[in-house]
Amino acid sequence: MTSTAPPGTSKVSIEFRPHDKVTRVPPGMTIFNAANWIGLPIDSTCGAKGTCGKCKVRILRGHNGATAADRRIFTEEELADGWRLSCRSEAQEDVVCEVPRLMGNPKAALMGFDRHVILNANVHKIPLTLTPPSLEDQRSDFSRLRDALAPEGFEVEASLTTLRQLPVVLRKGQWQVTAVIVGHELVSVEAGDTSGRAFGLAFDIGTTTVVGMLLDLNSGAPVAVRSTLNGQAVHGADVISRISHTMMNDDGLSQLNEVILRTLNGLIAQLLHEGGVAPHEVYEVVTAGNATMQHLFLGADPEAIGLEPFIPVVEDMVQASAQEVGLEIQPQAQIHCLPYLGAYVGADLVAGLLATGLAQNEGVRLLVDVGTNGEIILGSAERTVATAAPAGPAFEGAQIQDGMRASEGAIEAVTINLDGIELQVIGDVPPIGLCGSGLLDAVAQLRLCGLMLPSGRFVTASDAKELVTSDLARRIITDDEGRRAFVLAWAEESGGGKSIVLTQRDVRELQFAKGSIAGGIDVVMQELGVESEHLVEIFLAGSFGSYINPQSARIIGLVPPVPVERIKAVGNAAGEGAKIALLSFRERQVARSLPEIVEYHELSGRGDFNDSFLAVLQFPELETLGLGNGTAVAQG
Ligand code: FES
Repeated sequence: MTSTAPPGTSKVSIEFRPHDKVTRVPPGMTIFNAANWIGLPIDSTCGAKGTCGKCKVRILRGHNGATAADRRIFTEEELADGWRLSCRSEAQEDVVCEVPRLMGNPKAALMGFDRHVILNANVHKIPLTLTPPSLEDQRSDFSRLRDALAPEGFEVEASLTTLRQLPVVLRKGQWQVTAVIVGHELVSVEAGDTSGRAFGLAFDIGTTTVVGMLLDLNSGAPVAVRSTLNGQAVHGADVISRISHTMMNDDGLSQLNEVILRTLNGLIAQLLHEGGVAPHEVYEVVTAGNATMQHLFLGADPEAIGLEPFIPVVEDMVQASAQEVGLEIQPQAQIHCLPYLGAYVGADLVAGLLATGLAQNEGVRLLVDVGTNGEIILGSAERTVATAAPAGPAFEGAQIQDGMRASEGAIEAVTINLDGIELQVIGDVPPIGLCGSGLLDAVAQLRLCGLMLPSGRFVTASDAKELVTSDLARRIITDDEGRRAFVLAWAEESGGGKSIVLTQRDVRELQFAKGSIAGGIDVVMQELGVESEHLVEIFLAGSFGSYINPQSARIIGLVPPVPVERIKAVGNAAGEGAKIALLSFRERQVARSLPEIVEYHELSGRGDFNDSFLAVLQFPELETLGLGNGTAVAQG
């Protein structure tokens, strides 16, 4: 067993008065971040850099020595009275502190999945009227600007690129300018008062699809949303083939890096055009994606992710400028790549945690991203564990006789009832194959009507006649070698001129794929000592997970047997989480601390995973799901 986090018992508790809120966090977390974790607003304008002096708390119990920043902000009496900057104050033992009331109500919005998120972007635009220089006042341009920002609570640094703009902009603006500050970095100075316009971008960089959102950082409102295919697809459909491409070709890494930048810059151009926003008005970007996609975006070699023991270059949040990375926006704009929980539980899942609030809320929840790799996170504010289970390509329609990707002509949903079989086909055209969600539905419906046994075997054609209408019964066919299959569409109904069938082998492939994910879920449930009745909600995420019929997922045993209304498809949770991290600096701090809070368990080589996998290969008995005994009375 591998665990990258300290055991849950080594946490310290922080009590916030007068809010009567208590949280338990790993030792060393700042009081400011602990407050963010539970959504408690503490004032701040400097992005927790220890310069604005707004995040004051009074320590009532627990040792907390004064830092240099505390000594700069507080008087000796205040220090003696326990006042500290919460963003500098690390909790090394249990702490009780008092948080002053906020002067105003913080702006909040309902985001993600029923989450009340405090909006506070990390971009500040401060309009300034500077005193023009004179022989009596020969301060440099930068000193003049820095001095004017100090009373506003900002202590800024500037890159050479920003310094180069300064003399022209200050004079062009006749000393009326707007300073653009991201964190403590002066990223730009603009002539006049431009404080009403500030924008950011949130990206979900998926292996197949890239989604981009342009957001107004002042209001939190979405300005434009677009998606496009990841241009890297020509170099392989999945992360392993992309990694192989970088290993097999000398310039493979730079090729894939260039392609993803082209994809993103193309998307940016469309978003800005649609929103009527200039490139220089975009000051911050947050990206979510699996570890391989984020490595390729940053031009970092992903080879070690693809080989045991599966090591990313860095798991923490990476910050770089747009210029360094190659995005065509404000050159000094800050790019933040969300962190990973493990090589195969990437920033897309960290974003999913933000969107669902799973690791911050009371009540145990399960988040599953179903794909070639099943990424699984289980827990609550108390303790959260994550793992990744290799599921293979069955859910993507690969290695399935008539399988295909979810594109036009794919059967995406199946219903079987007394009237026969009803197929839902993408694009409303005659079917040509079966995609993952259709595969799940087909098997679930066959279980329900009794044509498939819990072992996964089809009943015999003669037993089928006892169970269902003759139209359905004749769809059970047997090939020359005695292997049974079920005909979903006869040749004359299909768009490909041949029958579309679900074979016994296809069912086995699905059993292995679902067994791996269900086995991984079983391991993390045992790790937390959780039974299915304890689960408040199950979130199905990812490009495939969002299309699964929750009832089908339950019938085939992909997820634990909770009432179906507790299973929710959460759509693009990664994009939603990236948006939250962009609009709320506090939530971004939560994302930053997730790798040290969430325990990652590697399944490779774990005996209990193999046992769980074997135990869940069968489909659940329908009675255990409260679905009667179906009509499964025949023996195969
Ligand atoms: S000093 Fe600004 S947040 Fe702490």
